[in-house]
This record gives sequence, C-alpha cells and structure tokens, in this order.
Amino acid sequence: MGIKILSIESSCDETAIAVVEDGHRVLANVISSQIDIHRVYGGVVPEIASREHLANIVPVYRQALQESNLSMEEIDAIAVTNGPGLIGSLLTGLAFAKGLSLGYEKPLIAVNHMVSHLYAPFIDNPDISLPALALVVSGGHTMLVYMEDHLRGRIIGQTRDDAAGEAFDKIARRLGLSYPGGPAIEKAAAGAEATWAFPIAFANEDTLEFSFSGLKSAVINHIHNIEQKGEAVPIPGIAASLQEAIVESLVRNSLLALRHFPVDNFLLSGGVAANTLLRERLQASLTAQGVRLYCPKKVYCTDNGAMVGAAAYRYFLAGKFADLTVDAYARQSEEDLLSELQG
Ligand code: KG4
Ligand code: ZN
Repeated sequence: MGIKILSIESSCDETAIAVVEDGHRVLANVISSQIDIHRVYGGVVPEIASREHLANIVPVYRQALQESNLSMEEIDAIAVTNGPGLIGSLLTGLAFAKGLSLGYEKPLIAVNHMVSHLYAPFIDNPDISLPALALVVSGGHTMLVYMEDHLRGRIIGQTRDDAAGEAFDKIARRLGLSYPGGPAIEKAAAGAEATWAFPIAFANEDTLEFSFSGLKSAVINHIHNIEQKGEAVPIPGIAASLQEAIVESLVRNSLLALRHFPVDNFLLSGGVAANTLLRERLQASLTAQGVRLYCPKKVYCTDNGAMVGAAAYRYFLAGKFADLTVDAYARQSEEDLLSELQG
C-alpha cells in the first residue's frame, strides 16, 4: 500500500485538491478555476479570490475524495501550500488543511509553492534521475534551479524584476487581450510572424539572471508609438514578437545553465511551461545537446493539487511535517526557499 496524500492548493485563483499516491499515482485531481470571475477585472482581485476559495473548498474537497474512492481514514497525510502567494487565498487552504489534520488526526505537510511546481514533472516521470536542472516559470517566479537531489538544490538564476508570466499578463492587458495573458498572447500569436526584435536582457552576458521589465517597457512604448500615429495596433505581430523574446531569453539561459552545470535531465514547469513555443524550442535545443527534457502535461503546469502531492511525498519521506501553528506567507526570501531545498 502506497502513501496517499490529500493535497490542497489555493495560493492564487485556483482552488485545487488532489489525492496522490506515492507522489505520482494521481487518484483525483480537482481544479476549480476562478479565471472567469477575475477576467472581468483584467487580473486577480485578492479579496474576491479569498472569498471564492472559501465558497469552493468544501465542494472541491468532497469531489476529490469521491473521485479517489477513498475515505479519510485511508489518507496518510494532508498537504497544503502555505506560501508564497496571495495571503487571504493561502489562509483559506491552510485553515482548511489544519481542520482536516486535527479532525482526522493526520500529519500535516506545508509545501512551498515553488517546490510544488518543481515537482510537477515527477508526476508522470517519478524516476527522473538527479542531479537535474529545472526552469520554473510562473506568474510570480522565473528561476533556474540546480536540483542536486530530492529537496536539495539551489537557485542559480532568477529574475531581477518581473516574472515571465507577469510580462505576458501585463502586455496582454495593454493589448486589450483577456486574462490570463499567457494563453491569450499564445493564441493571438498563432500563425503570425515575429516582426519586431524586442530587447532581450543580458543577451550577451555570462549570467543566468533574467529581466523582463525592459522588454515590457519596450513593447508598451512600441504600442504607444503606433497608437500616436493613429494606426491600428498589429496585435498578432506584437504578440508573436513578445512570445519570441520571452522564449528566447528562457531558452538561452537554460542552455547557459547547462554549460555551467552539465546534467542529463532538464525539468520545465510552472504556468508558462504550458506555452507550446517554449516547450518546442527547449525540446529542440536540449535534444541537440543530448539532454532529456521533462515537461508536465499542461494541466500540471498551471496551479493544481497533484504537484503539491508530488512534492509532499518527498516531504513525507524526509519526515518534514508541520505543526498546527504553521503560518502562511505571501513572499519568501531566497534564503527561505534555499532552506526549503536543503531537506
Ligand atoms: O503557475 P501558475 O498557474 O501560477 C503562478 O504560480 O503564478 O502560472 C500562471 C502564469 C500566468 O502568468 C499565465 O499568463 C501563464 O502562467 N501562462 C502562460 C500560458 N499558460 C499560462 N504563459 C504563456 N503561455 C501559456 N500557454
Ligand atoms: Zn503557481
């Protein structure tokens, strides 16, 4: 009998609960997205998100348990994201997880959201051998991680300003495209040519750092100039050029990281990993280097409970349990994530 973990994710605008056995057998994976509610506002409204989690969490829990065909007595632990993320959203999931832990006398595991994203590729490939390099690209983070072993690693590059997903979201908003921006830009760019060469930060430098705020300003200025001339904004061309610049920056640093840290396996995850151009480009570049790319199914790229379960399994094996006073946190320092990755 495997270790079955009920895993809760509510860090942003998805109320998600999964039941995962041994970190990779997904017995249930229920995701209730609030995207349609926030779309009206062009982005996530934190207070609305918290209230939606509060309303959705019990139905999502009931559905997940029902899909798993298990009773709470058969569950071995409760895992929950406790940061980083929107504080009100996190508190809803955390308080609910504490209630289950207390009521059913099950150990509690508090999982870092970035560690969850890092573990998404292991859901369908639990035996990926380590060390590996990982690129985690989401709405809030862009980081390259040297993963030495399970729950052991270090951040070797991250963004100095905006995250890759944030750049997609902000420019999509400026273009009048719907939230979330990444999929909207990808759709608008389909079949269009990347007509403009937008700037890529640190393009010729030996650094693993990212920066997307200069790109964001360049694109916004470009749109502004077109509007000033009274011309129609060529949305598909701009979307394709933006996507090209972001993907190029991500792929370039990934290849540079490989030169500094030669490994056989590369992991790609986070919401932006759902982007087809990024997946294809990285795949082609890594194959040319004889490196294998592991990228989760799209449903495991954006926020979900299954990846929390994949990470929580490693916490379980390492005996990393939380007590019932564990807090939620909105932001984390690099040291916090590092200590999380030191086992
Ligand atoms: O991982 P995630 O669901 O939430 C965070 O932890 O931030 O990532 C959400 C981000 C958003 O910025 C969204 O625009 C981006 O992932 N995203 C995409 C795509 N799907 C989602 N970006 C580019 N292409 C996509 N297909
Ligand atoms: Zn996320």
